Parts: sequence; C-alpha cells; structure tokens
Amino acid sequence: MKGLHIVHVAGARPNFMKIAPVLAACAARPGLRSTLVHTGQHYDEAMSQLFFDELLIPRPDINLGVGSGSHAQQTAAVLQYFEPVLLERRPDLVLVVGDVNSTLACSLAAVKLGIPVAHVEAGLRSFDRTMPEEINRIVTDTIAELLFVTEESGVANLRHEGIDPARIHLVGNVMIDTLLAHRDAAARSDAVERLGVRAGAYAVLTLHRPANVDAPAVLRGILEPLAELARTMPIVFPVHPRTRAMLAAHAALLASGHGIRPVDPLGYLDFLRLMSDARLVLTDSGGIQEETTILGVACVTIRENTERPITITHGTNRLAGTASEGIRRTIETTLAADTTALPPPPLWDGHAAVRIAEAIEVWGRAR
Ligand code: UD1
Repeated sequence: MKGLHIVHVAGARPNFMKIAPVLAACAARPGLRSTLVHTGQHYDEAMSQLFFDELLIPRPDINLGVGSGSHAQQTAAVLQYFEPVLLERRPDLVLVVGDVNSTLACSLAAVKLGIPVAHVEAGLRSFDRTMPEEINRIVTDTIAELLFVTEESGVANLRHEGIDPARIHLVGNVMIDTLLAHRDAAARSDAVERLGVRAGAYAVLTLHRPANVDAPAVLRGILEPLAELARTMPIVFPVHPRTRAMLAAHAALLASGHGIRPVDPLGYLDFLRLMSDARLVLTDSGGIQEETTILGVACVTIRENTERPITITHGTNRLAGTASEGIRRTIETTLAADTTALPPPPLWDGHAAVRIAEAIEVWGRAR
C-alpha cells in the first residue's frame, strides 16, 4: 500500500482525547496511512472504551493488553509486546502522545528498531524528576525526531536541552481541538442535573497523582480544606481507580457539610459539561488545567508545580501546593478573583491536529 504509514499509540485515558483529532486529520490526507495501537494500560470500560465511543475513535487495530503493574512491569510489557507489532507492520513513523508509561515504552521500542518517533505534547517540563511523567517526557523528547509542542515554554525547554530547532514544531493543543469540537455535544449532557447540583454553585474535584493520594497523611491534608469548602458548596468528585482504595480511611472528611461526593469516573461529554458549569475546579491533572483555561472556569491545581505554565499566565489556573494552608488560601483568592475570560493561548484554536498532519507529510516528502 502507498503512503506514509504511521502507527499511532494510545494507552491511558488522557491519551484518547489527544489521539482522536490526530487520527481524523491524518485520515483526511491521502498521503498518510494509519494503524492504531492501544497498549491496554487503561482497560476499564469507563477509563477507555467510553472515550472511543464518544469521540468516535476508530477501533484499535491492535490491543497489547498490558494492564496494570509497577512502572517497570508496565513499561517492560509495552516494550515487549510493541516490538513484534513494529517488526510485522514496519511503519515509517510511530506517533505517541502525552507522558504516560505507554508513551515512553513505545518510543523506545521504535527508535531501537530505527523507526522515527513523533511526540505530540513535547517539551512540557515540571522540573520535578520525582514525577514519573517528567521522566517519560524527558526521555521521549530526547529520542523523538518530530516534536509537536503546545505552548512557547515547551519550545524554550527543548532548545535549552540542546534539541535541534528544526525538529521542534509549535502547533497548538490537540486536547483543545477535541474540547472545541465537542463543546456543543457536552452542553446537551445531563450530568449536572443527574448529579443533583446547580450550575455555578458547585465545585469539581479530581485527584490521582501518586504523590497526592498514595500517602494517607498527604491525602488527609488535601481533603481537610476541601471538606471546609464543602460546607459552602457541594464538591463532585469523580474518583480515579487508583484513588478509590485510598479514600476508605477518610470517610468522615468526605461526609462533612454538603459533602465531597465521590462518584464513578465520568465519560468525556459528561465531564466536560460538569467542568463547564462549575464555580470552581480543583485538580492535580495536567489536562484539566488546560481545559479550564479554555472554558474560562477557575482552576485550583493541587500540586507544587505545573509543566503547563501558560495556564497560569494566559488562563484561569492557580497553583495551591499540596499542604492544607496553601490550598485553603488559594481557594479563597480564587473565589474572590475576577474570572473574566482571557484570550486563549496562541494556536489553541481547534486546528493543532491539522498542523501536525501537514508537518508529518512535509517531513515524509523530505526523507
Ligand atoms: C496514568 C498516567 C498518568 C495519567 C493517568 C490518567 C503513567 C506513569 N501515569 O496514571 O500520567 O495522568 O494515567 O488516568 O503512565 N486502574 C484500573 N483500571 C484502569 C486503569 C488503572 O483499575 O483501567 C488502576 C489499577 O489499580 C492501577 C492503577 O489504577 O494499578 C494505576 O493505573 P496506572 O496506569 O498505573 O497509572 P495511573 O495512576 O492511571
């Protein structure tokens, strides 16, 4: 078959909304041919299949079925099962997104076979090497040939690391492509009504970073100021599977006031509706900092740092740290602040994936 053959990789929940517009943009170019590999890092219906259904992502051609495990086990399993796929399919390019273990493992398997890698969402740096994602980002960017960047800070970081500027492409944000394409559909979700809250009068919480949820004392320190906030407004808390087990020890905090209300993980459209109508979003996710920036919804990030500084300079995001006092103070400041929508970051316009597909075609012709 003719055309440049790309193997696209998706493994975990935050990858799915990023790969969707890239696959669509590549499908629109006759010069590009795509194969989709799901590593199986996330496998629950609510963490995976639901996103494929809602975002109309084509059924994966191959599912590696790696599942959960320690970092070494999970990364090793992806490496081991992805290599034979590459040997059989012999693509011209492997395209990875984000910063999860599947991103790193598939990049490594490809470059070792001499297959070039394109990294979507390259260059982001928290400068915190205790975060597993930071290691995944640094290694993937070092070995990738095409680096597609969402924000200026990413370009500066890559240049500072000595990466050839010819490999760096500032293209915008594919996660925002998906958000803009699904805003109308999300407005028709009944998630807010179903969850029994009132638009503009509730908060949304997500927590899943190991540093925040794995140590009971840290999680308690985060939940205490949130339980105080729950006296003034309900907090809807879609719970990630890794966090669920950790919550049992904190039942009393969850029950105070209007309550922090744990619910099962939501699909893409329901969650987008829930964020859009919230008074406040509290999170340790990377992507949610970006989504609230575009939605113009106030965001308090429960982390010491962010690899997405544009969400602070151009957006609605504030860093609270992970200690009770900082979270308490940041919630107060945020609720008192003016939330007039700011202009979106440059190139977060819904067309990032089209720029990526174009750049890949140009690269393919020059080889
Ligand atoms: C992974 C990513 C993280 C991303 C997050 C989004 C890495 C290093 N981390 O973290 O960057 O923000 O996904 O969700 O790649 N589990 C299930 N069902 C699933 C998936 C996971 O029950 O479908 C449970 C398992 O107990 C598993 C745990 O969640 O051990 C953690 O899953 P894992 O893929 O290791 O990392 P995440 O915390 O999800």
